[in-house]
Amino acid sequence: MTTDTPSTHSTPTPDTLTPVLTDIWDAPRSWTLATYRDHRGYEALARANEIAPADLVELVKSSGLRGRGGAGFPTGLKWSFLPPPDGGPRYLVVNADESEPGTCKDVPLMMANPHVLIEGVAITARAIGCEHAFIYLRGEVVHVYRRLLAAVREATEAGLLGDLVVTVHAGAGAYICGEETALLDSLEGRRGQPRLKPPFPAVAGLYARPTVVNNVESVASVPGIVLGGAEWFAGLGTPKSAGHGIFSLSGHVTRPGQYEAPLGITLRELLELAGGVRAGHRLKFWTPGGSSTPLLTDEHLDVPLDYEGVAGAGSMLGTRALQIFDETVSVVRAITRWIDFYKHESCGKCTPCREGTFWLQQIMHRLEAGRGTPEDLQSLSDIAGNILGRSFCALGDAAATPIQSGLKYFRDEFEAGCHTPARELFPYGRSALHAPAHEEVPV
Ligand SMILES: Cc1cc2nc3c(=O)[nH]c(=O)nc-3n(C[C@H](O)[C@H](O)[C@H](O)COP(=O)(O)O)c2cc1C
Ligand code: SF4
Repeated sequence: MTTDTPSTHSTPTPDTLTPVLTDIWDAPRSWTLATYRDHRGYEALARANEIAPADLVELVKSSGLRGRGGAGFPTGLKWSFLPPPDGGPRYLVVNADESEPGTCKDVPLMMANPHVLIEGVAITARAIGCEHAFIYLRGEVVHVYRRLLAAVREATEAGLLGDLVVTVHAGAGAYICGEETALLDSLEGRRGQPRLKPPFPAVAGLYARPTVVNNVESVASVPGIVLGGAEWFAGLGTPKSAGHGIFSLSGHVTRPGQYEAPLGITLRELLELAGGVRAGHRLKFWTPGGSSTPLLTDEHLDVPLDYEGVAGAGSMLGTRALQIFDETVSVVRAITRWIDFYKHESCGKCTPCREGTFWLQQIMHRLEAGRGTPEDLQSLSDIAGNILGRSFCALGDAAATPIQSGLKYFRDEFEAGCHTPARELFPYGRSALHAPAHEEVPV
């Protein structure tokens, strides 16, 4: 690994990884029911069908599984918030919208092994008393949509799902529809915008009925917990961040991809498994959980990647989307691209985010072009501070955090944006992974 900081850890081996969700990804036709069944597929469901629903909720509670969609809310506890059955419908909605820049774990999981998700859906549905479950998928991934439809059909025709109906719904592709209440509005056929909470979905969710919204990876982790037991799962990871998780390494890394490991592994260990930062370069900055989580630097290589460890370093574990940037990258340029994204995806419902992301974009573009002013830096800080915590949903916060952490660690680059274009300071061709032999690529 090429980094400035010497390693204090023993070299991780492939044994450091814990392939549970990813264990059959390299099997031939891993997405089929036949392959899944050859690898104990649907054994957990058969076992769960013998367990009382309340005990399933307890099992997942005691495993320590926390939501893998970003916020880390305890999954079993969320299930237990549903009011007692009243004879009316109760829904499970799987959040498969996966749109955060850098986040790329749910789509590969559903492509490689859709049945582990469907088995998790069936077990979760039993635990919460649901007869109709939905998988809300980002619509652009048509290949995943087809794969999920085929897998649901296979499981249904094989009689594995009993009376459970599973509907796969393709959204139109909006980041805000990953926010659970906007997702529910979209699923109901409305424009996807967040709802005022309370009431929370557990009380009044889809069609105003009790609803559990869980991330793909959360639900897909349930069969493993039923088979392996709560103690086994809790024994992986760290005391407050149990279990395994998929860590997605992208950017300037030798072998980008999905690495399934216990929570608490460090970026240094993951980089060693992934062949290090690309040859001849060193780590400059990275995101622990997608672009909405504050940036970290090479000072943070040994931070345990669990909820507490990353929070202690001033960031968030988020979706474990580790975007690696080497010293050739302009921080101003990277943040400008993210702000373009957040401004474009802002749903417009609340003023701080709708107006603030527009202003942030104007300023970031000036800085990238080397036409910023010292007042711009103060405005950036003020606007980000006024968006953070004052927006209707967390999308606004997501736009503010890269600005704040960028200013904290790389203020000099923002100051340089008052006189020199980012492309002169960091010629863009140098950071391109697949650039032509000559230096410059068009902006
Ligand atoms: C703007 C925004 C986008 C989100 N996108 C996703 C997403 O794509 N997938 C996801 O599971 N959670 C996403 N979330 C988090 C969800 O609101 C919710 O917390 C999550 O689906 C709950 O599942 P979990 O408890 O299993 O993590 C997003 C939140 C926000 C504010
Ligand atoms: S924070 Fe942004 S995305 Fe969220 S409600 Fe407000 S305008 Fe919409």
